[in-house]
Amino acid sequence: MAEYVCLFHKDTVIVKSPRKSPVFLRTIVLLFGIVCGIYICTVCLRQINTVSKIKTQNLQVIESPSPDSNILAQLEARIPTLHYPKPQTFSRGECIQNPVRFFAILSMQRSGSGWFETLLNSHINISSNGEIFCAMDRRKNISTIMQTLDRVYKLDWFNSASKNECSAAVGFKWMLNQGLIEYHKEIVEYFNYRGVSVVFLFRRNLLRRMVSLLANSHDRYAKLLNGTHKSHVHSQEESLNVGGCSFKLQADNQLYIINK
Ligand SMILES: *[C@@H]1O[C@H](CO)[C@@H](O)[C@H](O)[C@H]1NC(C)=O
Ligand SMILES: *[C@@H]1O[C@H](CO)[C@@H](O)[C@H](O)[C@H]1NC(C)=O
Ligand SMILES: *[C@@H]1O[C@H](CO)[C@@H](O)[C@H](O)[C@H]1NC(C)=O
Repeated sequence: MAEYVCLFHKDTVIVKSPRKSPVFLRTIVLLFGIVCGIYICTVCLRQINTVSKIKTQNLQVIESPSPDSNILAQLEARIPTLHYPKPQTFSRGECIQNPVRFFAILSMQRSGSGWFETLLNSHINISSNGEIFCAMDRRKNISTIMQTLDRVYKLDWFNSASKNECSAAVGFKWMLNQGLIEYHKEIVEYFNYRGVSVVFLFRRNLLRRMVSLLANSHDRYAKLLNGTHKSHVHSQEESLNVGGCSFKLQADNQLYIINK
């Protein structure tokens, strides 16, 4: 009995000693184990997911080649149409076989169209003729607009931006307020019929767009417009006329700062 008690006592001692060890640590170990288990499980699941995804993707590509051909067809449809114009004012010489692409840059003022046009014109075989509809008499009615367009796309239009007989792309810049909105239906028909690619530039920021409109109306009423526009600069005098119809660079400095 005494032994038993002793044993019992020992037992209690033995039992008590682990009870004394902090439960807190045990729970931490347990939690750590749980977290590790969950982490390993998620990693495994992720790997399984990616493997299965790759498999299904591969299956899609192999099983359905039709989307690819669709995309190709769409891309082909987007490639600008090729033309072989025969200008009346000069002979294209040996470049008569070279295809020409037609384009038009439609834009609002201060949308970067001048910069974009200068960039295009820096290529030796691209000719962008500037704002040809600055002059009122060219956009008096739809027939004068069509005549002007015909002259441009038959390569019979001459200005400082006109290139050689080997031009591979020809176009011009057209502001939305230069007769474009009034005759938009006829112009869209003409562009579709002719196969003209349209590049549309506008400012995404609404506030900046409003500032541009404001600055534009200021320019219109506060300055003389001579109707001359040069997308190329060859002299200091010409540089004064660069930008829009004939805005003075100095006077516009403030606006260009807003542009940036
Ligand atoms: C311009 O066109 C000519 C004639 O087609 C061609 O020989 C030349 O390589 C072109 N230049 C550039 C920079 O593409
Ligand atoms: C367009 O304007 C021109 C030049 O003023 C004129 O000769 C022509 O008759 C006009 N056409 C139409 C359809 O109004
Ligand atoms: C623009 O027009 C004004 C007034 O008609 C004239 O004095 C000025 O010389 C013209 N500028 C150019 C570059 O033609």
